[in-house]
Amino acid sequence: MAESNSTSEAVSYGYEGDVALVCVDNPPVNATGVAVRAGLQDAFRKINEEGKAKAIALYCAGRTFIAGADIREFGQPPKAPGLTEVLSEMEQSAIPTVSIIHGTALGGGYETALATHARVGMKGAKFGLPEVLLGILPGAGGTQRLPRLSGIAYALDIAVSGRHVPVEEGVEKGAIDRVVEAGDPREIAIAMGQEVVAGTLPTRRTDQLQAQADDAAVQQTLEMVQKKNPHLINLAECVKAIAASTKPIDEGLAAEREHFLVCMNSPQRSGLIHAFFGERAVSNIPEAKGETRSLDKIGVIGGGTMGSGITTSCLMAGIPVRLIEVQQEGLDRGVATITKNLDGALSRGKMTSDKRDAALAMLEPSLNMEDLSDVDLVIEAVFEKMEIKKDIFGKLNTICKPGAILASNTSYLDIDKIAATTDRPQDVLGLHFFSPAHVMRLLEIVQGEKTAPDALATGFALAKKLKKVGVLAQVCDGFIGNRILGHYGKVISYLVLDGASPAEVDTALENFGMAMGPHKVGDLAGLDIGYMTRQRRKEEGLPADERYGGDIADRICEREGYGRKTGKGYYLYETGAPVPNPAVDEIIDEVRAEKGITPKEFTEQEIVDRYMTAFISEATRVVEDGTAKRPIDVDMVFLFGYGFPRFRGGPLHYADTIGAAELVRRIEEYAKEDPNYWQVPPLLRKMADDGTTFADMNS
Ligand code: CAA
Repeated sequence: MAESNSTSEAVSYGYEGDVALVCVDNPPVNATGVAVRAGLQDAFRKINEEGKAKAIALYCAGRTFIAGADIREFGQPPKAPGLTEVLSEMEQSAIPTVSIIHGTALGGGYETALATHARVGMKGAKFGLPEVLLGILPGAGGTQRLPRLSGIAYALDIAVSGRHVPVEEGVEKGAIDRVVEAGDPREIAIAMGQEVVAGTLPTRRTDQLQAQADDAAVQQTLEMVQKKNPHLINLAECVKAIAASTKPIDEGLAAEREHFLVCMNSPQRSGLIHAFFGERAVSNIPEAKGETRSLDKIGVIGGGTMGSGITTSCLMAGIPVRLIEVQQEGLDRGVATITKNLDGALSRGKMTSDKRDAALAMLEPSLNMEDLSDVDLVIEAVFEKMEIKKDIFGKLNTICKPGAILASNTSYLDIDKIAATTDRPQDVLGLHFFSPAHVMRLLEIVQGEKTAPDALATGFALAKKLKKVGVLAQVCDGFIGNRILGHYGKVISYLVLDGASPAEVDTALENFGMAMGPHKVGDLAGLDIGYMTRQRRKEEGLPADERYGGDIADRICEREGYGRKTGKGYYLYETGAPVPNPAVDEIIDEVRAEKGITPKEFTEQEIVDRYMTAFISEATRVVEDGTAKRPIDVDMVFLFGYGFPRFRGGPLHYADTIGAAELVRRIEEYAKEDPNYWQVPPLLRKMADDGTTFADMNS
């Protein structure tokens, strides 16, 4: 304990002259779990009762000030005392109080600071109300106290964006009272407490201030959030709670509670918090934690879209890259793409011009593969042909230094076959990036049969350096993401064959939360990619009992074009906004007539149900056969690599909201039409029988 008297296992207090010091020490981030709440209440009560102090300074031990409520308690039965009541009591302290902020004061942490009578931030510290990112709203007085200090418009900006704000900005807006040089929080707490005693650091109770109504800001923000993401009901609830800050504090806090509970009981809260923990859980595995090899210099083979994106990502992380191409033209194109990517990052404010120049200076383009002799890791990103990859890995085997990691960015090929062309399969693994590789955060880390533990752990270390979410996958056709995509992609074509229009499917899935329906995505990415894959599959011979769903897409490619890049696809793009292409309707009618299909109507819900049931079926198989370690790994693949709506938590988190028994019932129903495609995964049947969930498998 940092101070001599402890009021709980997480809070202690003591005295330095006239100043009472209250210390919160609750690793890792001093979240306001029950021990902190009870401890704070007790400490402030006791200091007031003891009556020895003229100021109370609150500070935190460890890496940060209080970073928020303890999210792990959400969804559990509440434990008294609640943070709101503790903060109201603290605010009424007869002795003036001050908070010392280092690291981050977020959510319930900043709300704690708002309830003290002054806020001092150390240089470099940040504050914010990021609750909306977790599907809720500031529920411990933040919506009432910040508007009283900084006005309704600023409170709306902070609470609706959820951004982490530098304390320097907070001073300009009245949200922070003073910024001091960074130092030991306890020393600063003593100094600031003494200033409070001396009257050189003014204090006042936030609840005694009045917030001025700002109907224009409220209305404008409400319209903006409802337009931007109608699914996130918490954004509108947050705006309404802030609008209530013109009322007396007790009424405002009661309004905040009502709006908070609407969000707390919503499925989106559970989905977004699943996403928060999932992002961290994927690398919280033994495979990611062992010893790692160096990552001081990386080689990338291939200057196409993927190779350039991977190179950009490494350069942005400060890792020098040697980029290899076979011809000068390809190399020049690669360097031009990388330069364009970095310029884009500069114009979006992601990096400074100095950093952009430094990044480019770390790029060494070369036409000579021998130049890879001293790199620590090579990422091959060439055309998806096994023979080409085998040839490259055979060469790398002789060129690269012992212990160098040899990685392939293949999106579906067998890593073990690639590794077999070397006499160091322990150094080979898959590093599957997603396009655009310098933007998309997912990195599938594919473990080959013989991949060494330290090579695998280095894959995770790379993900961390690149600020990506590394997910462990085992070898199979398409790994986690593309294998599941390959399966549910078929149900999209079956829906259209059987009666839905491409636009109906797109609208249904967009209303479900996808940023873009699958046909619009196809038009954007280019329909030729799927066309080539289908032709290859046809040449290889489709399984006899598989229903072929690609006729419509094939004819669109052959007669209309490949989507946006040729001006026509499922949609026409003459006016910019996509308009359904009437020629596609004719193709659909033609194919249905040839196949003797009488089209039926699908409601939006039926479209979503079939799509998600197909999605979940294959995702279950991926967990069942061990391609993914846990359901949460599958969820993160889709959130970070495929734009699955974050507020739904991921396909298998969503599956738990439906329940295994209902999913089995649906599959059996659909199987009456196509028993080959619709098969109940044994794991799902077992879950239905046992009454278990995917969440059970995550713990
Ligand atoms: N509750 C419980 N655990 C938390 C937590 C929280 N609020 N915030 C972080 N953690 C945990 C993480 O899960 C992680 O645990 P593991 O090591 O077991 O994986 C650990 O703390 C460290 O977190 P990070 O890996 O994220 O560390 P970082 O240094 O990269 O980032 C941080 C630190 C900026 C505080 C970041 O963790 C963060 O943004 N946390 C969430 C902050 C937040 O959203 N606060 C609002 C909470 S809701 C609220 O306060 C409601 C209210 O109105 C009362």
